[in-house]
Amino acid sequence: MKKVAMSAKVPQYPMATVLVGSHVNGKPNFITIAWFTMVNFKPPLVAVVMNKKHYTNKGIKENNTFSINFPSGEMVEATDYCSTISGYDADKSKLFDTFYGTLKSAPMIKQCPLTLECKLVETLTFATHEIFIGEIVEAFTEERYLTHELPDIKKMNPIIYTAYDNDYWQLGEKIGRARHIGRRIKKN
Ligand SMILES: Cc1cc2nc3c(=O)[nH]c(=O)nc-3n(C[C@H](O)[C@H](O)[C@H](O)COP(=O)(O)O)c2cc1C
Repeated sequence: MKKVAMSAKVPQYPMATVLVGSHVNGKPNFITIAWFTMVNFKPPLVAVVMNKKHYTNKGIKENNTFSINFPSGEMVEATDYCSTISGYDADKSKLFDTFYGTLKSAPMIKQCPLTLECKLVETLTFATHEIFIGEIVEAFTEERYLTHELPDIKKMNPIIYTAYDNDYWQLGEKIGRARHIGRRIKKN
C-alpha cells in the first residue's frame, strides 16, 4: 500500500486527557493537558509538558508541587473549559471540589476517579515548552472505581483526545490481554 506523507507536525496519536493542578498565589488552578507520560518506575516519576506561557506553571514553580487528575467522560465540559481560558484571565479555583494530601499545595479534584499528588524533582526547558518531572507521592481513587482492588477503566471512563481533528472520545472494547495475546504467534 502506498504511504502518504503527513508532514512532521500532524500525527499526534490519541492521548489521554488530564487536568494538571497547582496552587498559584494560594489558589488552585487547573490546566487541560494531553502531553504527559510515566518516565520511571522506582521512584515513580511522571512528566507533564506545558507551554511556558501557562498560568499553572507559575504555581508549580512557586511550590514545587502539582497534581495530575484523570477526569471521567461525564466531566468533559469542565475539562474542556480549563483549556479555553487561562488562570491569568479567569478564576478556575471554584470549578471543582478540591482536596489535599501530605504536600498541602497540590490541589486534587474530588470528582476525578484518579488523582496523583506529585513533588517536582526536575524541570527541563525547551524553546516553547517546559517539562515538569514529578515524583508521585500518593495516588487517590474511590472503591467504586475498582474491581478486585484494581482500577477499572470502564468505571473510570477516561477522556481520550485526538489533536488532528480536535475531538474527545471514550474508550471502546478490550481487544486482548497484554503480554499474552501476542504469544499466539509461534516462533518458527
Ligand atoms: C485537549 C487539550 C489538550 C491540551 N494539552 C496541552 C498540553 O499538553 N500542554 C500545554 O501546554 N497545553 C495544552 N493545552 C492548552 C491548555 O489547556 C490551555 O492553554 C489552558 O488554557 C492553559 O491554562 P492556564 O494558563 O490556566 O495554565 C491543551 C488543550 C486542549 C483542548
